[in-house]
Amino acid sequence: MVDSSEVQRGLQDVVALQSRICFIDGVRGRLIYQGYDIRDLAARSTFEEVAYLLWYGRLPNAAQLAELTDRIGALRALPPPLAERVEAMPVDAHPMDILRTAVSALAFFEPEETKPGPSSIGGAQRLTAVLPTILGQFHRRRAGLPPIRERPELSQAAYLLYALLDREPSELEEKAIDVALVLHADHELNASTFAARVTASTLSDLYSAITSAVGTLKGPLHGGANERVVRLLDQIGSTDRVEEVVRGMLDRHERVMGFGHRVYKVEDPRATILRDWSRRIGEAKGDRHYFDLLRRLEEVVHREKGLYPNVDLYSGSIYALLGVPYDLFTPIFAASRVAGWTAHVLEEYEDLRLIRPTAKYVGALDLPYVPVDQRG
Ligand code: SDX
Repeated sequence: MVDSSEVQRGLQDVVALQSRICFIDGVRGRLIYQGYDIRDLAARSTFEEVAYLLWYGRLPNAAQLAELTDRIGALRALPPPLAERVEAMPVDAHPMDILRTAVSALAFFEPEETKPGPSSIGGAQRLTAVLPTILGQFHRRRAGLPPIRERPELSQAAYLLYALLDREPSELEEKAIDVALVLHADHELNASTFAARVTASTLSDLYSAITSAVGTLKGPLHGGANERVVRLLDQIGSTDRVEEVVRGMLDRHERVMGFGHRVYKVEDPRATILRDWSRRIGEAKGDRHYFDLLRRLEEVVHREKGLYPNVDLYSGSIYALLGVPYDLFTPIFAASRVAGWTAHVLEEYEDLRLIRPTAKYVGALDLPYVPVDQRG
């Protein structure tokens, strides 16, 4: 039990609020969205249906799902002044910085949805719809691909891949991306969601809260890990070098990205599902290189540190096999987690309490003020 008088660094194990959106059982490795097990949702649902579930607390009927799907498809276009601003952003910027800046600027052009409260659901759906467009417009410019076109008929998973790669995915690729979007959609009070709730708890607006979240997700200890996993695989090169490279990292007390978790004490259930998709996509592409490296990496890291894979270990290998550039991996995480972020912001608005913990002061007290001309 947490002793509230003692400092809980990183707020570890501190229960900060009540929520009905997401439950993580870190001991048994279970993840639940609004009562539904992630294994059922990954196998049988879609990102659009899961977004509805997170926002409204229940699975949609066919008409409700069709209406939300159509609305997201219709909201994908950027307001022209924002599209112009994205065009003017530095082409060598990290896409997470583009995303953070564009999300913030979007508030200028959508004033009707920035009022804190239930009306922010409109902004939630707009943000979910436009994140792939922002990423696609930026990446197409730097990659010399044709300008993005509205494709309201595509699922969010298919549209995301079309936006980034200028091609429609195969059925298997679309399903792999849709499963990844379902798996990344929410995760209780992870750092970026907590950042969004802290912002919303001051009665600040939805776009400010999601701007906080995007900046927080970028960190390599959080959403930035998936990109670093694949860069490590490229650095290792072959399975026979895994042991040597990992031992060197651990000897230098470096973190092996994609492993460990603040809450899961066993395998992250999302890693279990993504491992299988990494294998399936690798076999479909005739390229098990990343999958074989990751399996060896798991063996060595678990033997040396007793650590289990988290959601970031296998996701990047799937995106890389589909031809997605590495620096777009964390933005894909954001394009999914925006559903969870916005669901938590709406829940905060519903039962608002300013989030303001305290610090244990360990500095000096009662120092005499010395005028500057008398200081040494
Ligand atoms: C995500 O919170 C969420 O829910 C996040 C997320 C979500 O969906 O939103 O699940 C997404 O962010 C997943 C995590 C992605 N990050 C990484 O893969 C980065 C590598 N992982 C670590 O940095 C670490 O495991 C954390 C940050 C994820 C969790 O760290 P904790 O709970 O603060 O644990 P810790 O840093 O106190 O580590 C405990 C011990 C330490 O050993 P000692 O120094 O005590 O000997 O385990 C070691 C750590 O050194 N350790 C690792 C390690 N993770 C922990 N050692 C090597 N490699 C690692 N990855």
